[in-house]
Amino acid sequence: MNPQRQYWDAISGTYRAITRIDAGDFHYGPLLAGESKLRLLPPLRPGMEALELGCGEGQNSLWLARQGLLCTAIDISEGQLAYARADAAKAGLDVIFQRCAIEDFDTPEATFDLITSSHAFEFLDDPFAQVARVARWLCPGGWFVLSTVHPVYNGEWVSVDEDDGSETWGRFLPSYFHPVDDVREQPEGKGAPIASRAWPVSAWFNAFRAAGLTVERLEEPPADPDPAYASDDWLEAFDECAAIPTTLILVGRK
Ligand SMILES: C[S@@+](CC[C@H](N)C(=O)[O-])C[C@H]1O[C@@H](n2cnc3c(N)ncnc32)[C@H](O)[C@@H]1O
Repeated sequence: MNPQRQYWDAISGTYRAITRIDAGDFHYGPLLAGESKLRLLPPLRPGMEALELGCGEGQNSLWLARQGLLCTAIDISEGQLAYARADAAKAGLDVIFQRCAIEDFDTPEATFDLITSSHAFEFLDDPFAQVARVARWLCPGGWFVLSTVHPVYNGEWVSVDEDDGSETWGRFLPSYFHPVDDVREQPEGKGAPIASRAWPVSAWFNAFRAAGLTVERLEEPPADPDPAYASDDWLEAFDECAAIPTTLILVGRK
């Protein structure tokens, strides 16, 4: 089985239990304020066609559907989508949830006014090839709002040496240009591990430009004390995360 699918199917229950995502807002990443504060989405109109890539439990598509958008949302993991479908049914919202890898999705026409993705592109082998495909699915004037792990975040934790205080608590970045992979073993021990991979900010900017997208916004929001996405672990690391950007957000327009 695809290691991403195996991993996310295996952890979907735990992920659901430990993350707290504000259903009343559009979220961009761990510890960040949501759309109500960041104001990064284009003007939304009922009837706009939206696509979410790597939707997880689908909170962002459900929020867009509440604004009257016609939403399709895909994810590689049926475990993740099961929560999305259940939440949509409970809320009486109509979203087309489809189990599909981003790399396998396609549409013959440029149909979408808005394509979003929050913290899924770091799991792709070749995210920039996918940015080029995403651009083809947008209508002229359409928007691609991407949030992904920031290259400064993919460092290594360094902790205080209690005896001689020789190290300080925080992030150590071996290379900005080749950030270390955040490798995650399969929870059941069998199968290939997966990695969350970060890329330099300029590489993302250039990938958007090469795909024919104008970068309208590029943001590195600080951690917010009232985040739209949190977990106990993330909140515990609040002070360290408040000192560096953890998420990179790009808003591109075709
Ligand atoms: C960190 S979660 C983020 C979920 C959601 N976007 C959110 O912000 O809550 C990453 C998601 O990406 C999905 N994913 C990973 N690789 C994928 C791929 N190649 N195609 C589609 N989805 C993928 C996982 O199944 C998982 O649901």
